[in-house]
Amino acid sequence: MSALATEYKAVNLGQGFPDFDMSHELTALVTDAMNKGMNQYAPMQGYMPLREVLAAKVASLYGTQINPDTQITITPGGTYAIYTALSSILQPGDEVIVFEPAYDSYIPNITVNGAVPVLIHLQFPDYKINWELVKEKITAKTRVIMLNSPHNPTGSVLREEDMQALREIVKDSRIIIQSDEVYEHLIYDGIAHQSILRYPDLLERSFVSFSFGKVFHCTGWKLGYSIASPALMAEFRKLHQFNCFSCHTPSQVALATYLKNPSSYLSLGSFLQEKRDYFQSLMQQTRFTAMPSYGSYFQCYQYNRISDESDKELCTRLTKEYGVAAIPVSAFYQSGTDNKVIRFCFAKKKDTIDAAVERLRKVQ
Ligand SMILES: Cc1ncc(COP(=O)(O)O)c(C=O)c1O
Repeated sequence: MSALATEYKAVNLGQGFPDFDMSHELTALVTDAMNKGMNQYAPMQGYMPLREVLAAKVASLYGTQINPDTQITITPGGTYAIYTALSSILQPGDEVIVFEPAYDSYIPNITVNGAVPVLIHLQFPDYKINWELVKEKITAKTRVIMLNSPHNPTGSVLREEDMQALREIVKDSRIIIQSDEVYEHLIYDGIAHQSILRYPDLLERSFVSFSFGKVFHCTGWKLGYSIASPALMAEFRKLHQFNCFSCHTPSQVALATYLKNPSSYLSLGSFLQEKRDYFQSLMQQTRFTAMPSYGSYFQCYQYNRISDESDKELCTRLTKEYGVAAIPVSAFYQSGTDNKVIRFCFAKKKDTIDAAVERLRKVQ
């Protein structure tokens, strides 16, 4: 859709990236680190002061003490952290539970390891997990359950009752959890993020992946981290050591200073919530119907008041005829399940949102 958006000079609310500037304080800190000569390899596990400040953040947000030496590894982005986690534990024939719609890297990351994705649809239209169905799908071969909250593409978030159901299901099993929390701070309406890190019994059996690029509006940095139990992290590092080895040093040095001030991450939710609310209020002038977005920087819309064409056809038409790119949610299902829902990214400047909605108002 992005290629089509460029071809048709469309306003791109498709791909998930912000079009506004990242923090100038943070870019200045990177420049400063470079000028001070912090330009050589960082340790394989990541720059220690950054790991320390992350451990302090986890303790203050989720009340869990983690060891920065043995439980955190800085990675080139969240996607890499997920791939490395899965590759460090999966054996051919293992089964991995994946909830669909799902971020596009999950299934290739499973199959490249010879493992088998077991697909479960999130319940439409609220995109909640049906835990009874999960219980039915678990077999002796189930090795991993993959979670993602706040969720791309739907903006749904896990609740405390989901975590309790999960705890009940995995206890006494050999199941590992891979929890994708790249949108950690982008959660709205006062809802508390249900991180795995709140639950020490779950953390024992989990890899939790994060992305600085996603939360600090610098997706091009491709910098993130994984947190796991010491035993799982030791396995993770066996791969990481000979794959990426270590990540961009000046950015790590900069983040170590930047994150000392909690407002650097505590302010993100309200900043993006304002954008969601602005986008949603303008969209009321169109014939699209909003679905709730509790987190991430995406909001899904139904279009039954406009047409009954497929979501792909509609997205193509929106780009070509109206000049606005969105993503068909069917693209996040292996089977192409089409609930006639499209995803917009609202992490955009006011002018971009205004221009997009101005065009979308013409869609009858
Ligand atoms: C659910 C989810 N996980 C991971 C990523 C990728 O994060 P990164 O850019 O840090 O690899 C994305 C990016 O779109 C995402 O939506």
